[in-house]
This record gives sequence, C-alpha cells and structure tokens, in this order.
Amino acid sequence: MEVVIVPDAKAGGELIAEAIGALLSRKPDALLGVATGSTPLPIYQALAAKVRSGAVDASRARICQLDEYVGLPAGHPESYRSVVLREVIEPLGLSEASFMGPDGAAEDVRAACLAYDKALAEAGGVDLQLLGIGTDGHIGFNEPCSSLASRTRIKTLTEQTRIDNARFFDNDITQVPHHVITQGIGTILESRHPILLATGEGKADAVARTVEGPVASFVPASALQLHPHATVVVDEAAASKLKLADYFRATYAAKPAWQGL
Ligand code: GLP
Repeated sequence: MEVVIVPDAKAGGELIAEAIGALLSRKPDALLGVATGSTPLPIYQALAAKVRSGAVDASRARICQLDEYVGLPAGHPESYRSVVLREVIEPLGLSEASFMGPDGAAEDVRAACLAYDKALAEAGGVDLQLLGIGTDGHIGFNEPCSSLASRTRIKTLTEQTRIDNARFFDNDITQVPHHVITQGIGTILESRHPILLATGEGKADAVARTVEGPVASFVPASALQLHPHATVVVDEAAASKLKLADYFRATYAAKPAWQGL
C-alpha cells in the first residue's frame, strides 16, 4: 500500500480532496464512499471549499455510507445518515437522492444488509472509499476478528469503540448503540481505491499494525494490504510508530505529480 505522510490533518484533508476532485473530473458521477468520525471532516471541508470556488464540480457525484448504528430512531442527529447529510451532502450542495446507505432502522436487519451490498453492486461499485481507523484497528465498524471476507452485516461493538464514540452521545456510553451495520471487509476491498486517513498520536499504534504488521483479522485495517491500490494518509503524529517512515517520505517526495494518489 502507499503511505503518504503529511504535516497535519488539514494537509491530509486537502490532499484527499484533490484526489476526489481529480476522480470527479475523470468520472463526474463517481460513487464516493464516505466515512464518519472526526478524522475525515477536513476532507469534507476542503472538498466543499473546492466546490464553492468552482474548482471541482461535484454536482453529479453519488455518495454512499460505510456503516450505520442499528436502532437509532430515524433522524437521530448521530445516526450516520444524519451525519453524512450534515457533513457531506449539504455542504456539497447535493440532494438526498444522490445518497445511499444501509437502513439501520429496518425491522429485518439481515435483509437490509443484503439489500445494501446489492445496491452498491448495482450502482457499479464504489470508486473511492474513504476510511478512518478505530484505535483497535477497525475500519467501518469491522471490529477485531471480523472475517477478512465479510460482507455488509450486523456487528456488535466492542466496549472500547462504545467508549470512543460516547463523545457523540453527550459522553454517555449508555446512549451508544451496541449494534451496527457495516460494509464488510470483503465489501470494502471491492472498492476501486480505498483511502484511509489517520491523524493524531492516538492512532499511531493502529497505523503501525495496519501498515507494517501481518495481515490479520485482529487488525481489520491490515486487510488493505491485500488491495492493489490502497492509500494510507497519516499526519506526523499518526506516523510516529512507523519503522519505514523515512522510506515512505522519500518515496512520496520522488513520486511524479501526474500520478496523483
Ligand atoms: C467510528 C466509525 C469509523 C471511524 C472511527 C474513528 O467507529 N465507524 O468509520 O473510522 O469511528 O473515528 P474518529 O475518526 O473520530 O477517530
């Protein structure tokens, strides 16, 4: 996988927004998979600024969700559908019609998972999938020991992830759902270009295990090593435990600009 070390989160957001802009100029109706959490926000802000300035035309972009809580009432401000509408769809000036995600409020969750995998395939597959990473190495909500071949399905969150995400629920862990729907690792690996952004020292361990450790379901993000075109963008703090950091810096510095990400 390609590892790009940037000075800070803002630079990471700008770099990835540029890659999305380049994709949309090649393929205006590209299907863009978006992640939630705090980490990708600088990407969405940089992309929205490019749309406002006219540098990027995102009017035909299609957006799809990576994961969703199960059981939050429709319209709950912390459902990932609400988050994506607020942080991505509205700032980019898109309509809800250009957006799809799994139905976390479905009575038949299993059917909702199958329907979502089918909808992604029928939409032609995900062109670029943005990912964050959990402190335990999860991508989407694929917690440690998720099958590397998994499809969209229901998962149970670890206690650590519920603690990490309590900040979005008034710091009250009892409000954080136990269950989620997430694209599987196999589903994520079908995207044409997964790009993982990790920032801050708290992610340094997970990043080192993802990039330089063995491929293992215990570190779900390490499955990206199996993808022929995966990119990991990290700030200096998140890169601080990489043994090959100097090599990654030199490689990127020597990369021809026309290659993009
Ligand atoms: C949640 C999301 C992940 C995200 C992770 C990290 O668990 N399901 O997609 O990567 O949080 O969030 P943050 O970027 O806020 O650290």
